[in-house]
Amino acid sequence: MIYLNGEFMPIEQAVIPVLDRGFIFGDGVYEVIPVYSRRPFRLGGHLDRLQASLDSIRLQNPHSENEWQELIDRLIKLNEAKDQSLYLQVTRGVAKRDHAFPKTVKPTVFIMSNPLVPPTAEQINAGVAAITAVDNRWLRCDVKSTALLPNVLLRQLAADAGCVETLLLRDGMLTEGSASNAFVVNKGVLLTPPKSNLMLPGITYDVVLELARANAVRHDVRNISEAELREAEELWISSSSREILPVTKLDGTAVGSGRPGPIFQRMHQLYQDYKMQVMRVADV
Ligand code: PDD
Repeated sequence: MIYLNGEFMPIEQAVIPVLDRGFIFGDGVYEVIPVYSRRPFRLGGHLDRLQASLDSIRLQNPHSENEWQELIDRLIKLNEAKDQSLYLQVTRGVAKRDHAFPKTVKPTVFIMSNPLVPPTAEQINAGVAAITAVDNRWLRCDVKSTALLPNVLLRQLAADAGCVETLLLRDGMLTEGSASNAFVVNKGVLLTPPKSNLMLPGITYDVVLELARANAVRHDVRNISEAELREAEELWISSSSREILPVTKLDGTAVGSGRPGPIFQRMHQLYQDYKMQVMRVADV
């Protein structure tokens, strides 16, 4: 079951007009929200980021936070899986094709749910392979825009190489992955780039840094050069769909020992414990 513009319905029945600006221009924003044991994880953070994305593209939020919460709760109930991945999209609506904003238009609101497929034990225990590429995206990567063609092309490079992610370098500095944030361990210190217009402010990124702070994991938020990336003892990616995954091969070369490192293992455990704790209490 999905939600589209005021109605819940089976996905097969959901249609939008071809003049939707999401279809024509990619003129919209989105969120991906994990649901564990039927509770949305970090919903507040996702709704705040949605608001920031909407503000950036000058689109009024069609719903209050309470309304979003209600829609999301109803959709979770209408779907079977205990663990779900919610995809939420708002576009600038349906209008005659013209680049400038239409004067009056109703945004299109779409939410779907898929079963959440967490990383496999094999991926967590052995790590995954990634490649690097030049970050050739626009300068507003902080906006969670549905216009994802650069990310799609960059991710396909990884798929072509039999890898799971493409890590991006802009002016010799690590920004993030095509659909994830990136963490590096150098000299025992966990490093990740600071939030800026060059990367998406990840909700999972926030959780990792909070857990590092709360558990005295040595860390530093600062820019990471390509040389530091290539010398990394550990490399991880993070996202709502993949949680935290160790990257053990980069451009065909082993990262550190070639196995997931001790700091990853610690953080992975902290993350799982945190998830369990959140599932037991009210939404965080
Ligand atoms: N992508 N950076 C980019 C470019 C992303 O697309 C994502 C998430 C992240 C991680 O953000 P978060 O931890 O909030 O999921 C970073 C989602 C999962 C997607 O597009 O499917």
